[in-house]
Formats: sequence, structure tokens, C-alpha cells
Amino acid sequence: MIRVGIVAVTGYTGAELMRLLSRHPGAQVVSITGRSEAGKPLRQVFPHLRDVDQPVTAELSDDVEVAFLGLPHHEAAAMTPPLLEKGIKVIDLSADFRLRDAAVYEEFYGHHPCPYLLAEAVYGLPEVYREPIKAARLVANPGCYPTASILALWPALRHHIIKPEVIVDAKSGVSGAGRSLKLESHFSEVNESVRAYGLDGHRHLPEINQELNVAWGRGFVRLTFVPHLIPMTRGILATAYADLTVEWPANQVYALYADFYANEPFVRVVESPPQTKQVYGSNYCYLYPTVDQRAGRLIVVAVIDNLVKGASGQAVQNLNLMAGLPETMGLEALGIYP
Ligand SMILES: NC(=O)c1ccc[n+]([C@@H]2O[C@H](COP(=O)([O-])OP(=O)(O)OC[C@H]3O[C@@H](n4cnc5c(N)ncnc54)[C@H](OP(=O)(O)O)[C@@H]3O)[C@@H](O)[C@H]2O)c1
Repeated sequence: MIRVGIVAVTGYTGAELMRLLSRHPGAQVVSITGRSEAGKPLRQVFPHLRDVDQPVTAELSDDVEVAFLGLPHHEAAAMTPPLLEKGIKVIDLSADFRLRDAAVYEEFYGHHPCPYLLAEAVYGLPEVYREPIKAARLVANPGCYPTASILALWPALRHHIIKPEVIVDAKSGVSGAGRSLKLESHFSEVNESVRAYGLDGHRHLPEINQELNVAWGRGFVRLTFVPHLIPMTRGILATAYADLTVEWPANQVYALYADFYANEPFVRVVESPPQTKQVYGSNYCYLYPTVDQRAGRLIVVAVIDNLVKGASGQAVQNLNLMAGLPETMGLEALGIYP
């Protein structure tokens, strides 16, 4: 049993980690922290975690082997060096270690407390970085929009069947913004409404761009990324568009994607446009690649649950890799439908 701790179990990603890990046969949660609920048993904070008597504490105990950080950015980076010095491996769910270039981090997030760790951190997208994740002591768990967007475009860019000019139009449920109170996520602001935001450079844009550049391998990919907030709790649907460089019918593009992800346990290339509801509560990403023949354009629709494959489920997938456990352990549950 690997001993793990959850920092900020009081947040959405922390609570989702506890839900997944409480049924994980290879991991034992030995420490859970949260400033706002310290001293209370977790079941009192989250009644859906009925059988978790464990108390929330203010500090993480030193006997954990791997710590998950469900903190806001900056707070996560400030906490990481002392954990690594104690020999505790870190899976950070914030954006603090996702960008390799400290100047880009500074542009989008401000000053980085420990930029020297950026070179060491491994971007925790198992479909791309499986081997380095196994050996990592610091994993930067990808963002939710980036997970869907990168998985949607990686095969097409890697095989150079599209031009390096892409558009990603994405929609997210409100839990993507976290549990803390914000005017923009009040029921009456969100319900029966849809809005675009972050058009002047959403924080996930440089992260998506960084990985699309790696996939392309021949320089900079021009990316336009437009996220939208929609009135649902969980889920992301990202639609990616790019001009094809080859005259391929949809079935050939489909075959390329199906072949590319054939051995991936959590990516399913599907035969009709997927809905977020099909992956709700699961660690799956469903991808639907097709071709707009009239325009000569690739279209890929991707869906994930932002709190599972987009955050806590992917973090458990990374734990499994780091601990030498089967990659799918504790993550086999299918989505909840309807
Ligand atoms: N929500 C998603 O879908 C999602 C997806 C991917 C990545 N992420 C990232 O994961 C991280 C956590 O997201 P979340 O949605 O779980 O957020 P959240 O629901 O707002 O929870 C964050 C937790 O961090 C703690 N916290 C807040 N400010 C703090 C501070 N200054 N110092 C120490 N602790 C503080 C709070 O717990 P206490 O006050 O009890 O300590 C809070 O419960 C964020 O960096 C987010 O960007 C979120």
C-alpha cells in the first residue's frame, strides 16, 4: 500500500481525490488537510464520503510517500520544495509546474516562488509522458481544458495531417472554477446562460500551446482558444478545428486516431459525436474526429469530466504510474448515465 496525503481535501479536486482513493486497492490515504475544516471528520464536511471518519488536519503528516496538492496556484508552488526535501513525491493539481518557461508563467500567473523546479517537473499527461511520469518526483497534473484539447489534436499534429493553425472552442461546467464563492458562478448568473471568457488570453492557452508545439515538432502552432462557461456542474466539451494538409476522408482520419490511441486505457475514439454525460464521473476521454469535406477541415470533438480525467482521476492515474501499480487501478468505473 502506498501512503498518500491530500492537501486541501476541502476543495472540489481534493474531495474528488478522496472519493476515488477511498476505493483504491493500492493506496492508503493517511493524511488530509484543509484550513477551513480542520478538526472535523471528513464525512461531516462531505456527507457523500459517509465512511471517511478520518479528521481533516491543518498540516500534512510526514509519513506520506506521495502528496496531492489541490491548492490554488502560488500556494502549491510555495508548499512543494519542503515536501520534496523530506523525500515526499508531489502531484500538483494547480498550474504551478505545468509551464516549462518561467517567463511564460510570470506573464500569465505572476512571480513563481521556485522556478528552478520547472525543468524537473514532468507534465502529467500519461498518454504522452508515461515513461517520465514513472520516474518523476514532481508531476504537474494537466489542466482540464488542456487535457481535452491536447488529446484532441495530438495525433493530427504529430502526423502533420493539419496545418499548425488551430482553433479550440471549449465549454466547461461550473465546478471547473472550484468551490470557493465567486459572483460569476452564482446560480442566477450561470443558469439559462452561456458566455465566452478569457478571450484576451486564458491561463490555459500557453499550456495547451506548449504541448501542441511538442506534438507538431516543427516550431510554433498558432492557437486560438475560446472557453465558455455553461450551466452544468461537471464536464468539458472541446471542439478543435484545423485545415487539413491531406485530402483524407473522415474514415481515414478516424482510423489514424483509433490506431494512435489503440492501447490507451482511458481514451476512446468513438463513432458519433460524444456528450459530456457519457463520461460523467469517469476517467475517460471520448474523442470524435471527422472531416468537414466542403471546407477541407479537420474537426475533433473531445469530452471529459473536468474533475476526473481533467483533474483528480488523472492525478490517480499518475500516482499509479509513479508507484508501479497498474495504471487503471481504482479508475475503472464507467460514467454515470443519464
Ligand atoms: N476544479 C477543476 O475542475 C480543476 C481541474 C483541474 C485543475 N484544477 C486546479 O486544482 C486546484 C484546486 O482546484 P479546486 O477546484 O479543487 O479548488 P477549490 O474547490 O476552490 O479548493 C481549493 C482549496 O484550497 C484551499 N485554499 C484556498 N486558498 C488557500 C490558501 N491561500 N492557502 C492554502 N490553502 C488554500 C482551500 O481549502 P481550505 O481553505 O480549507 O484550506 C480550498 O478548499 C486549483 O489550482 C485549480 O486550478 C481544478
